[in-house]
Amino acid sequence: MTAVIRPVRGADNAKILGVGGYRPARVVPNSEIVDRIDSSDEWIRTRSGIVSRRVAGPEETVRWMAVQAGGKALAYAGISPDQIGCVLISTVSHLIQTPAIAPAIATDLGSHDAAAFDIGAGCAGFCYGVELAQGMVRNGSAEYVLVIGVERLSDIANPDDRTTAFLFGDGAGAAVVGPSDEPGIGPVVWGSDGSQDKTIEQPVAWDAAMEEGAYPYLVMQGNAVFRWASYSMAKVAQEALDRAGVAAADLDAFIPHQANMRITDAMVKALKLPEHVVIARDIAEQGNTSAASIPLAMERMLQTGEVRSGDTALLIGFGAGLVYAAQVVTIP
Ligand SMILES: CC(C)(COP(=O)(O)OP(=O)(O)OC[C@H]1O[C@@H](n2cnc3c(N)ncnc32)[C@H](O)[C@@H]1OP(=O)(O)O)[C@@H](O)C(=O)NCCC(=O)NCCS
Repeated sequence: MTAVIRPVRGADNAKILGVGGYRPARVVPNSEIVDRIDSSDEWIRTRSGIVSRRVAGPEETVRWMAVQAGGKALAYAGISPDQIGCVLISTVSHLIQTPAIAPAIATDLGSHDAAAFDIGAGCAGFCYGVELAQGMVRNGSAEYVLVIGVERLSDIANPDDRTTAFLFGDGAGAAVVGPSDEPGIGPVVWGSDGSQDKTIEQPVAWDAAMEEGAYPYLVMQGNAVFRWASYSMAKVAQEALDRAGVAAADLDAFIPHQANMRITDAMVKALKLPEHVVIARDIAEQGNTSAASIPLAMERMLQTGEVRSGDTALLIGFGAGLVYAAQVVTIP
């Protein structure tokens, strides 16, 4: 007799129930880094929109920052750690390859026995995580999922490289995804383009680094990334709006990955977003924090009152891979 396997079954809909962030204590203004890279405060502000960034100290590890952000998101959502069925960590700057950092973070948070794994999707990591989380909630493999984007990019950005030294920052942002009566996370539009895998990369592998004595810093072809992001990502964002059945006029907020203020401006223009749509500009004081940037920006917008619970926001993450993901969500 052929065994009959029960179908997977979970919640009808999923939404983000809470967000939380952690910003390292140390603020590094442009003036502190310009001499070393022969730059100027004005150049950095006009080319990237960055005024200052946060740089993590020795105690502010990837693991510790993720736990702070995750704890805040749980408190916001009113969910206890033992209700979390899976912890997803998006990071490119946890320097130990094995084991993944997610199980340790789950345990530190008190989410004992939760499934836990890391996602390597660069600056799209948070949006990838939200999509995976909503799938889990809807197929019943977890009732609640904690998604955390966390980076210590100061560990892998070369302080002497003019194209990256001013761009990146450190921090963590988290979201709890759980069941909902109404759809709170729209259809994802995601993809990749591996033909451009060299545009943001760690070009020296660990074994070669050992032999050559070269630190495997992140290297970026800024111009190529800028062109790709400014030209292609607005189309991806538009498709996410279309697939969610949400018009630009019905949006309250646009929260793109905080890559560069000029990339954000190019997307706002291409999407023809109406005046009333609030635009995330967290990069000015935070730098580009890769997978942490979207939840950090969302948290700030909630704190400042720029967005409110129940608002509709368009998210888009994009970066190393190249990879991208966009979705429309309801603000928790
Ligand atoms: C990095 C970035 C700001 C550089 O800006 P850009 O306008 O492309 O700059 P370019 O590399 O074309 O260089 C323009 C000039 O500025 C100079 N320059 C480069 N870096 C500089 C710096 N930090 N300070 C001062 N001058 C600098 C260059 O030498 C060049 O000078 P030249 O015209 O005399 O030859 C921009 O390419 C960028 O933001 N790219 C996307 C990066 C990104 O978002 N990455 C993350 C994606 S997740």
